[in-house]
Amino acid sequence: MDTTARREQWLREVAAAADAAALAALETRLLGPKGEVQELVRSVTSLPKEERPAFGKAANGVKLDVEAALQQRREQFAQQALAAELAAGDFDPTEPGPRPARGTLHPITLVQNELVDLFTSMGFQWEDGPEVESEYFNFDALNIPGDHPARESQDTFWLEPHPGLGRNLLRTHTSPVQVRTMQRLTRHGFHPPLKVIVPGRCFRSETVDKTHEHTFYQMEGLVVDRDVSTANLIHTMKTCLRVILERDVQVRLRPGFFPFVEPGFELDVNCPFCGGKGCPVCKQSGWIEILPCGMVHPHVLREGGIDPEVHTGFAFGMGLQRVVMLRYGIDDIRQFMGGDLRFLRQFPEVTR
Ligand code: DAH
Repeated sequence: MDTTARREQWLREVAAAADAAALAALETRLLGPKGEVQELVRSVTSLPKEERPAFGKAANGVKLDVEAALQQRREQFAQQALAAELAAGDFDPTEPGPRPARGTLHPITLVQNELVDLFTSMGFQWEDGPEVESEYFNFDALNIPGDHPARESQDTFWLEPHPGLGRNLLRTHTSPVQVRTMQRLTRHGFHPPLKVIVPGRCFRSETVDKTHEHTFYQMEGLVVDRDVSTANLIHTMKTCLRVILERDVQVRLRPGFFPFVEPGFELDVNCPFCGGKGCPVCKQSGWIEILPCGMVHPHVLREGGIDPEVHTGFAFGMGLQRVVMLRYGIDDIRQFMGGDLRFLRQFPEVTR
């Protein structure tokens, strides 16, 4: 097949296309799945072996030339269309352009913002801490020594050890910021009262399923003062849950074990789905476990530079995903990190 003659003919046709629509039709005829140019390129397979390289090269050259000519002609038509629009005088350059799409806040951010708002209104201060944490702050300072079984339960992502720096890890909870904050303040001669919250990201080497994630969000709370008692803890938690779940709540405490609190509790809230009557979500018990908490262990206060004979405190560690799931009735924790926009767009910002 004479590639040169075909090339000339196709280029003439491109040059002769009368308008953008004709050009588009021509493009389909030449370059569509069964297009003439494509057929030319494919016809190489029917040739004897020795002729193939030269023909293949020529045919591909023709294809590139035709594509370039089409592109150039398309741009000419676009220029002409723009010029015509401008000449017609009904083009308004002051008209606002299309609005850039606006994202929405992640549901965890929304709930965290609300909680921060609430706690700061109660006099709590927002504290922050590193996600790459030392073994000391994540475990030892919290009364979890090296051989303690509680370390096992926190499937830790350990980092490569650095000579002279001790062992580092991705923090498994926000509790290390309790001791960091107490140390930072008491080092400069500050004494309680102290009320802080610590929202933050935590990591555990978990197998991911409906209720477990390797990356999750907590909000730690710590209150230290003279005569702080379990009654203060319950009151604070009740207030917080009432606001965040948008209804009156009942709570109950069950014993829970965490080395950094004594006594430690699991705090339950009456089931928001059945109001306490019993349903599949609360496994017919009427209660839902919502957060662990307790009275700060004397060892932890001492580690933070505070005299446990003078001051006492309470602490809590709220799993933010859990609160968000309860609030919006979400049943799969993997949604949060899944990046599915259809999920994320369902949470309009709350304006109060
Ligand atoms: N840090 C604990 C965890 O992630 C949760 C926790 C329990 C935090 C009791 C507390 C607390 O402050 O008092 O497993």
